[in-house]
Amino acid sequence: MKTTELRDKYLEFFKSKEHAIIASASLIPENDPTVLFTTAGMHPLVPYLLGEKHPMGTRLTDVQKCVRTGDIDEVGDSSHCTFFEMLGNWSLGDYFKKESISWSYEFLTKVLEIPVEKLFVTVFEGDNDAPRDEESASIWQEAGIPKDHIFYLPKKDNWWGPAGVTGPCGPDTEIFYDTGKPKCSDHCDPSCSCGKYLEIWNNVFMEYFKHEDGSFTPLSQKNVDTGMGLDRTCAVLQGKESVFDTDAFTGILSCIASLCGKAYDSDEDTKRAFRIIADHMRASVFIIGDPKGVTPSNVDQGYILRRLLRRAIRYSKHLGIADGSLHIVAEKVINQYDDFYPELKTNHDKIIDEINKEEERFSKALTGGLKEFDKVISKLEGNTIDGKNAFRLYDTFGFPIEMTVELAGEKGIKVDVDGYKACFAEHQKKSGAGAVGKFKGGLADNTEATTRLHTATHLLLASLRKILGDTVFQRGSNITAERLRFDFSFERKLTKEELAQVEAMVNEVIEKDMTVSFEEMPIEKAREIGAMGIFDSKYGEMVKVYTVGNFSKEICGGPHVTHTGELGGFKIKKEESSSAGVRRIKAVLIDK
Ligand code: ALA
Repeated sequence: MKTTELRDKYLEFFKSKEHAIIASASLIPENDPTVLFTTAGMHPLVPYLLGEKHPMGTRLTDVQKCVRTGDIDEVGDSSHCTFFEMLGNWSLGDYFKKESISWSYEFLTKVLEIPVEKLFVTVFEGDNDAPRDEESASIWQEAGIPKDHIFYLPKKDNWWGPAGVTGPCGPDTEIFYDTGKPKCSDHCDPSCSCGKYLEIWNNVFMEYFKHEDGSFTPLSQKNVDTGMGLDRTCAVLQGKESVFDTDAFTGILSCIASLCGKAYDSDEDTKRAFRIIADHMRASVFIIGDPKGVTPSNVDQGYILRRLLRRAIRYSKHLGIADGSLHIVAEKVINQYDDFYPELKTNHDKIIDEINKEEERFSKALTGGLKEFDKVISKLEGNTIDGKNAFRLYDTFGFPIEMTVELAGEKGIKVDVDGYKACFAEHQKKSGAGAVGKFKGGLADNTEATTRLHTATHLLLASLRKILGDTVFQRGSNITAERLRFDFSFERKLTKEELAQVEAMVNEVIEKDMTVSFEEMPIEKAREIGAMGIFDSKYGEMVKVYTVGNFSKEICGGPHVTHTGELGGFKIKKEESSSAGVRRIKAVLIDK
């Protein structure tokens, strides 16, 4: 079964079980300061798992674009990818274990026609936080899974979430495919990583909230959150060992082959380089081409994108691919995915242009940098590159520190990363720039502080548009309990007067204590009435439109305060450039 077919069959199946198909959310999380990218299908749905009402109902299904950056440097082996698509279905306080498990069984055995004897499942063995999940085990058995294919495992295996430190989570039941390989030992079971059993689907029974102190309390509703890796399941269905051997990568790999004149499987070293280029270019195309896409930079998502592109450039040089060719690979990726992800069509020129620019910037520097790197190595006393040299490779030649570490590792040499960070911080202090790598930790919550700042963000956007004109659109939003950070399109620095006007306008709306309310409507109607938001959904979706009196109208999931007076007072702390054509405002709320 091809990947496109699996996508369609999954959505169709859950539609037949009365799920609404929703579009993939952006790869860049909205209002979540703790993670750079969307990492799972449930991620954009957190407010609804916590009890907000979703305009499409209580049963949802989608294919979500995800990026996980934890192991960029492991990409190149047979299983790691940075970008992937997650198929998912959700119950928001609707059905629970019985339906979820029965439908998974039906989909796998009837639609995908996987023989029952190939399926193994695991369930939660229970501990002080939640009981042993005998209910799931007996539902599996009733469905048709033999008892000796069901395993009870502890929290480290059979509990999912929260995505960060705090948030919704719960015991899960995981579904594995037996590849038919021999057991690696007498103890080999689905928890073993030898490759005999491959996980294809995870059904999470999300009924708990994990707090910062590590304790769990029941959620107001019992949810189901499931996730199936599209490429990985296709590898299983196509009888392939690796996602890179599936149809998702055939075209991209042969494009790379024609650029370098080598075959993908010439040898292990070549294979690795092909996989790195294929994965990193696919991820880069989706990151730049997202409706809230970013461009290469030295901070946040832009820095991850830069690392991906520069690593792809390095490996393309390694394969002997001519400078300035990576846009051809990008073109192939766009072509393959733009039917399902129309944003890649819309943003085609931007994607190609940004990739070309980054390649132009880095190709020459890379040659010089590699020479410099060799020089550093030849002069090395001991086994470690010091922080100063690592920083020079970054500052002069644009080598991300991770690249220096990888290059050094290939020669059995270490890098003093702490020393590098110290040089970096010193340099930042001198140049007055912000810090990198600050994003770790828990998912954003619906606390009172973030809710108030969220409403403030709507007032800010409306004020900016009224004062600066309607070329202003939202480009990003990031909220912590302390402050909001808002990115918007505008060509130049704002004047002091403009900033004062914006601040005064927001405060005026706060003082008028206007009502904040929402209405559910089809996305087309939201567009007609002039609501702000992203409109490229294919599924005729219902959306929530939040209005503040007659001052602001935005498509948004919420939550928000009910009256603007709850915000107290609004203060802009900073206005700066975010990237070309994009400005950034940081602001806080103060007590009045
Ligand atoms: N959220 C679950 C996962 O990512 C389904 O595995």
